[in-house]
Amino acid sequence: MNAKVPLSPSSARANPRLAHVGGFQALEQELDYSVANTAIKGAIPAELRGTFFRIGPGRNEIGGQKFGHWFDGDGMLHRVSFTDEGIHYRNRYVRTPKYLKETAENRIVYRSFGQNAPGGPLKNAGRAPANAANTSLIWHGGHLLALWEGGRPWELDPVTLETKGEFNYGGRLKPWNAFSAHGSVDPRTGHYYNFGVGVGPRGPGIHMYRIDPRGCLDRKGYFPIGSLPFCHDFALTEHYAVFFVSPLRLRNPLKFAAGFTTFDESLSYEPDDPVRIFVVSLETFEVVRTLETDAFVPVHYGNCWEEGRELVINVTRFESWRVNENLRNVFGAENDEKGRLYEYRLDLSSGAVKAKPLPGHDSLEFPQWDWRRTGVKTRLSYAAAILPNATPGFFNGVQRLDHDSGEFQLHDFGAGRFTSELIFVPRSKEAAEEDGFLVAALYNAGSHTSEIVVLDAQTLEELAVAPLKHHMPFGFHCGYTSRRFV
Ligand SMILES: [Fe+2]
Repeated sequence: MNAKVPLSPSSARANPRLAHVGGFQALEQELDYSVANTAIKGAIPAELRGTFFRIGPGRNEIGGQKFGHWFDGDGMLHRVSFTDEGIHYRNRYVRTPKYLKETAENRIVYRSFGQNAPGGPLKNAGRAPANAANTSLIWHGGHLLALWEGGRPWELDPVTLETKGEFNYGGRLKPWNAFSAHGSVDPRTGHYYNFGVGVGPRGPGIHMYRIDPRGCLDRKGYFPIGSLPFCHDFALTEHYAVFFVSPLRLRNPLKFAAGFTTFDESLSYEPDDPVRIFVVSLETFEVVRTLETDAFVPVHYGNCWEEGRELVINVTRFESWRVNENLRNVFGAENDEKGRLYEYRLDLSSGAVKAKPLPGHDSLEFPQWDWRRTGVKTRLSYAAAILPNATPGFFNGVQRLDHDSGEFQLHDFGAGRFTSELIFVPRSKEAAEEDGFLVAALYNAGSHTSEIVVLDAQTLEELAVAPLKHHMPFGFHCGYTSRRFV
């Protein structure tokens, strides 16, 4: 199974910064099998009896052609169920039109984020990039959705993982309403908030959505922002949604619309322009404050909260869009762009914005926290790290940070073992913030297979390593629910 390995051991030794690239190879198979406890190193904790999901591009090439960008790979959902007997694994591609047609023709057909369709501008003019349903997922209101930030969600059956179809919340999400990959659930109300960048009645802006715990989209909003930026994520506090609109934006929309450039090529980072911050009331969906700060590229947010009239925003900060070169060329990129965790403090009274790097390692992404406490102050955060071990080309470790003391711990997965996002799972509903596990799927370059790994969230010790029979292509985001579907 998947015998093709991209680098021989000698070439991996020659360039250990590329040792991870086998993790970007396609997984064509759709599988369904169990791994017994006897095959698991260590033991799955007795309290961990739910479902771990991860999504990402299942293939980054087709018919011998590489996709133009990691963001263009067709979405594959992986589901790992923790049972008394061990784990159960199932994966399925999301059956979007792009996946179905390109699979049938074994070639690139569609315009995507990072490439235009073959045939020149006439074949691309007026066409939006195809939805790859590959970026994130949500299980909320009885719906399992694969998310992609430029289009609508795709629904999957949580039991079979078969694709049910494009999802529009009973017609409330219109065809022009993008629905981002990064929503957030308010644990106090069960409401799920999401947004989409697009054009509205007053020009380019941000559309906002609230979905109630039964899965009903019960509130929509919109505010203009004057440009079409890359706006990947947002911060949710107790009373506000906060958007950092970076100076990374579509520079020449007409050239893109006419089919001469890809969306990716049309994005331009303007370091002399500020980041504009929009603070939106969750009660009214109206902008209640705008602020500005120096240019950077915000990507993912950690937990955020309110301290009196001050908003505390934890966010991954990139100093430029150079990281995009790595995302375009996943099979050959030597990652040297560092994401850093920052804390921003927004004073809603004075408009002052203060920023400081958080203590910790200097190359981090995918900040995580205890989701039971989203929007209120948390002490602990976790993030995937790129550590200076023998294979420093991709995420190879994890950081745990105590925001109160500034102390941090790092766990190195070791040479040749690579992670994507990790997720925190509390030991029980009532467990303290520090009491739980981190769950992740690791790619082991030595065996070209993946491992489901459970860590103690306090010590970062690996409690269980469950070997899969194949590799899980590197993904973007994951999720967990205490519910099981097998
Ligand atoms: Fe993301």
